[in-house]
Amino acid sequence: MSAKILITRKLPPEVEKRAEAYFQVKRNTDDTLMDQARLIDLAQGQDGILATVTDRIDAQTIDRLPSTIRIIANFAVGTDHVDLEAAARRNIVVTNTPDVLTDATADIAMLLLLGAARGAAQGMTTIRENTWANWAPTGMLGVSLTGKRLGILGMGRIGQAVAKRARSCGMKIHYHNRNRLTDDDAIFHPALETLLENADFLSINCASTAETRDLINARTLALLPAGSIVVNTARGDIINDDALINAVKSGHLAAIGLDVFSGEPNIDPRYRELPNAFLLPHLGSATLETRNAMGFRALDNLEAFFAGRPPHDRVA
Ligand code: GLV
Repeated sequence: MSAKILITRKLPPEVEKRAEAYFQVKRNTDDTLMDQARLIDLAQGQDGILATVTDRIDAQTIDRLPSTIRIIANFAVGTDHVDLEAAARRNIVVTNTPDVLTDATADIAMLLLLGAARGAAQGMTTIRENTWANWAPTGMLGVSLTGKRLGILGMGRIGQAVAKRARSCGMKIHYHNRNRLTDDDAIFHPALETLLENADFLSINCASTAETRDLINARTLALLPAGSIVVNTARGDIINDDALINAVKSGHLAAIGLDVFSGEPNIDPRYRELPNAFLLPHLGSATLETRNAMGFRALDNLEAFFAGRPPHDRVA
């Protein structure tokens, strides 16, 4: 008898096909968001859950899951929406999907860097609202990436992929990370403060943890040189929204680029009013190739677990 899996969201067809070939699958065919009560209800009688970032699997939810649930395979690299300690306490294995979304997410970080630096949001508004008067030598001037210092906060897989792309645009890489990398081409800052003081652009690429939540706040933003640009493809809660919005409004930051937000999709409405904010709706891993690869990776983990082998991407 194959294992029973609850899949909390609609997944790409190839992924659903493979899931159904291997498991008895309970699908969310209309793709509605599940609140905690519904998740717990649908988990009854299941052996595992394939979950996404839209499922808030906190300690209270985990404590109320049926005892049949033995694994939560996360369709994401970030696991901040799952209480890993609560899962471990109940002997529920948790896995994620690293590697397969690195390039897609780094591409979006570059899109944010370029979009923010070159005023792409304002440019598109000009076209869409038909307010483009003429080409002007002094009109809509952005800033160049070439020759600028890119500060990368969190030099894991995605941070390193951003560095590789940014180097090809002529940027000089600085980074702050728990560990120093063996990368002679990038300048390591053991302290966040010196990274910020040396960053014309800041790209946030660290995980959201108790240590990084609210790390980019009024105090740390003030350390960035005037006119710098901040982009975030990690998690919204690493940034304090009030502080970031104030830094843009005061002109301390020239522009921002955000793909992730606190409370998404209900983002702080003040972001919409900032003309120099280049904003995307959490598209980091949103290519069909990447979402297929994430689904297959989550299924690899589930298949290994139910075959009695250690899942490759166990995080709890
Ligand atoms: C998406 O945000 C992920 O963590 O994979």
